[in-house]
Amino acid sequence: MTADNSCAAPHITANMPIGVFDSGVGGLTVLRALRRALPNEDFLYLGDTARLPYGTKSGATVARYALQTTRVLVDIGVKLLVVACNTASSVALPGLAEAYPGLPVIGVVEPGARAACQNAPRSRIAVIATGGTVRGAAYQAAILRLMPQATIATRPAQLFVSLAEEGWTEGSVVEDIARRYLDPLMAEFPEGGPDCLVLGCTHFPLLAPAIRSVLPQGVRLIDSAETTAQCVADELCARGLVKEGAGPGAARFFATDDPERFARVGEIFLGEGIATADVTLVDL
Ligand code: DGL
Repeated sequence: MTADNSCAAPHITANMPIGVFDSGVGGLTVLRALRRALPNEDFLYLGDTARLPYGTKSGATVARYALQTTRVLVDIGVKLLVVACNTASSVALPGLAEAYPGLPVIGVVEPGARAACQNAPRSRIAVIATGGTVRGAAYQAAILRLMPQATIATRPAQLFVSLAEEGWTEGSVVEDIARRYLDPLMAEFPEGGPDCLVLGCTHFPLLAPAIRSVLPQGVRLIDSAETTAQCVADELCARGLVKEGAGPGAARFFATDDPERFARVGEIFLGEGIATADVTLVDL
């Protein structure tokens, strides 16, 4: 640690913003939790809206996209990176650690798995996620590391991403689709269903009321946003990277397609207004 509070990597200092990225606006649910937990910090958020969805693409493609989005944020200057996308968190973390050895990187899968285990008294955990996350089995691996006796069932629910991006979060169409995805998943847990259902995609929390309405009573919904925010807070403290000085932090937004749409749909996810003028179009 030096006098100006910079950490070992020379380009990282405490007053830099935190970088956050997702394939689209879903990661704004994580940014929302981050802003609540760390109100003084500044954030840069990049939504790779031109290439969404990530969940239908191969792991190699998503890992390459993650390197490209990270490059934009690192070039502007960030002190820590949050991969606010489960699909990218499942496949891209090793490549990011290799490419940016000095940069702390936090994904959403480990914190989500931890929250699930804390809410699974009978060790019964269901997971819905994108096709890519389910194929990569990252949740199973992370949960079994923490709770080797866990019974886990997973199911892709890719259409939820499109519904959320479209702002279709409630009503009979959404509930019908939720039932199609969730009834077979619940059937894998005879005798009372799972203890909890992990929303293993950062787009899904927006559909929580519709999802809850088709679940058996007592199944808890797990969203990794809060636990991820806690992880980031701990990491900043541990590395001496907490921003100095008081005053509310700011957020800047970047999208790879149509800033107007990003702002319009994004504010539903973020829970606060986003001005189109605050969204910069970037080309990867
Ligand atoms: N929001 C992303 C996730 O958490 C992915 C959605 C997508 O692009 O398919 O997995």
